Amino acid sequence: MLLAEYINNTAQLFANADLHFGHGTDNAIDEAVYLVYSGLGINFAEDFRSSRRVLSTPELHTLDEFVRRRIESREPVAYIVGEAWFCGLPFFADERALIPRSPIAELIEKQFAPLISSPPALILDMCTGGGCIGIACALQFPQAEVDLVDISEASLALARKNSDRHGTSDRARTLQSNLFSEVDRQYDLIVANPPYVSRQEMQSLPPEYLHEPRHGLECEDEGLALPLQILQQAEHYLISEGLLIMEVGNSEEALQKRLDKLPMLWLEFEFGGHGVMAITSQELVKFREALN
Ligand SMILES: C[S@@+](CC[C@H](N)C(=O)[O-])C[C@H]1O[C@@H](n2cnc3c(N)ncnc32)[C@H](O)[C@@H]1O
Repeated sequence: MLLAEYINNTAQLFANADLHFGHGTDNAIDEAVYLVYSGLGINFAEDFRSSRRVLSTPELHTLDEFVRRRIESREPVAYIVGEAWFCGLPFFADERALIPRSPIAELIEKQFAPLISSPPALILDMCTGGGCIGIACALQFPQAEVDLVDISEASLALARKNSDRHGTSDRARTLQSNLFSEVDRQYDLIVANPPYVSRQEMQSLPPEYLHEPRHGLECEDEGLALPLQILQQAEHYLISEGLLIMEVGNSEEALQKRLDKLPMLWLEFEFGGHGVMAITSQELVKFREALN
């Protein structure tokens, strides 16, 4: 069977199966390409529509099993093929950490312009999971040191594997910590993508999300418990000219309502995404009372 034929058939199966596309693609054809290309190690620059590639019997067996898992178990493609893309970079992905998909990627690719004007020397990736945000920052800012912090040692092991893959291990150290409990430095930039899904929203998530570690998604207090702690504590871990960037996704409205006096800057994204805010260290100090 030709590659193109297999991809078209798979896309049709995916469309008929009523799958949810929320982990790197948003439609059945892209999802099929992702599964087949990553599954067989094909370069994404190759256009399947014009490819004359014929799939071998062992390749077909492998792919058929992948397609079965995607449809019957609703496993996200990233976990099936063990790889996800973030900032145009490949990252190892498995059930030890969430699948990278944060819109913060767009900010990293623009080197956080115009939010910061000079390259940060010290960056903290709070709630790093598999390390995608911190490692992509380390690659964008080759002179920077980056701390990758997570409460889960399993996630940090994956982050180390990703850091080795991208050659950033000498500048990106992992630190197991409950938010800032083990952190003892002050950073130019803190980027945080904490768990922020409320219990109510958890109940409406499609089955694909249930393959991801629950402690990476769910958060008490309408999804705000950890984001609020980060906002309250961050001033102590930022230099006086420092900046905090944090994603809270669909909890944006709840956070804005809870902290209506805090001057949070909600960022806009060219390629989709929402619920990411920025606030300076000086604003966190000035509006400390609004946070308590
Ligand atoms: C939404 S995931 C973000 C993963 C990754 N940064 C990304 O953008 O794909 C949240 C991460 O926060 C971690 N986490 C949960 N509670 C934490 C805590 N109290 N302190 C530090 N990390 C925590 C989870 O283990 C999970 O890896």
